[in-house]
Amino acid sequence: MTTYYNYPPQALQDELKKIAKALVVPGKGILAADESVNTLGKRLQEVGVENTEENRRRYRQLLFTTDPCIADNISGVILFHETLFQKADDGTPFLELLKQNGIVPGIKVDRGVVPLFGSEDECTTQGLDDLAERCTGYKKEGCHFTKWRCVLKIGKNVPSYQAIMENANVLARYASISQSQRMVPIVEPEVLPDGSHDLDRAQKVTESVLSAVYKALGDHHVFLEGTILKSNMVTPGMQCPIKYSPDEIAEATVLAFQRTVPPAVAGIAFLSGGQSEEEASVNLDAINKYVGRKPWPLTFSFGRALQASVLKTWNGKDEYTKAAQEELINRARANGLAVLGKYKAGTVKGAAADAELFIKNHAY
Ligand code: 13P
Repeated sequence: MTTYYNYPPQALQDELKKIAKALVVPGKGILAADESVNTLGKRLQEVGVENTEENRRRYRQLLFTTDPCIADNISGVILFHETLFQKADDGTPFLELLKQNGIVPGIKVDRGVVPLFGSEDECTTQGLDDLAERCTGYKKEGCHFTKWRCVLKIGKNVPSYQAIMENANVLARYASISQSQRMVPIVEPEVLPDGSHDLDRAQKVTESVLSAVYKALGDHHVFLEGTILKSNMVTPGMQCPIKYSPDEIAEATVLAFQRTVPPAVAGIAFLSGGQSEEEASVNLDAINKYVGRKPWPLTFSFGRALQASVLKTWNGKDEYTKAAQEELINRARANGLAVLGKYKAGTVKGAAADAELFIKNHAY
């Protein structure tokens, strides 16, 4: 076994570090607006809006034409391929709108999950084949970071060694390719909340998954200072009968990271994973309040927990656009405060703040 390898050239290291740092500045986090056509379609249908390209454009226009003050709490937005080329009613490309507000555009680059044959309903994520070429194109368009989501399930016999190793390896290969094209990879190994397991089991699975991910990233010589981890918070299974406090969730989450995530990693941005908007803010706040070693910024990269109240308020009707944008500003502010450990539970209301957002076997 040889241990010789090259670090990225200094200019690339500097560029990646600068992008990553901009995404995790104190008080800011990421808006995940990269739902695939199908997934956004389901969200739109829930509020009675037909899943057409025009309605998806109208909805994303609502998000990206929100008052520039949104940038006080949103550092970056993850886009879906289709959105990248869409424009506002006045012809301004969405990418331009984000740039005008100093928000860094990023792009989902995985091509979704596929089954692992012979496993107990486990999966891996595809999309590596033409990834370098796609990244080159996205960088030219003005995107500076990428996201790739893998999912791991908790059950009696899972996650299996096969699933843990395969997903860790595919994430490492993805991260390496993304960095080669000057884009910061957001490495997302999501441990799904489906099941009745308790907090302890969720913590142990998260620790096992993350330690495999960082072993693989090391093996692929991924430049950790130019990466962001997108993780689940350590929470009990959605069907677990035991209730845990935000402090207990915070402790399990931070301990899992302390044991597995190198301090060189630029930051950790949580997915919301089916928590309600308010729960996600309260738990993020507790994590940041937790007294203990936390060498990384701990922020948000929420999809559902930033958009539930927006969608419910909008309902596809132009006359509610402003009100829906207010919901986005309020929720982003709540999460911005939570990043600083300064959110007071219940102080930010929303049309769907307490609504259950769990989706079984969530696809993105
Ligand atoms: P949720 O916050 O809705 O869990 O999703 C965020 C995301 O980007 C998953 O990849």
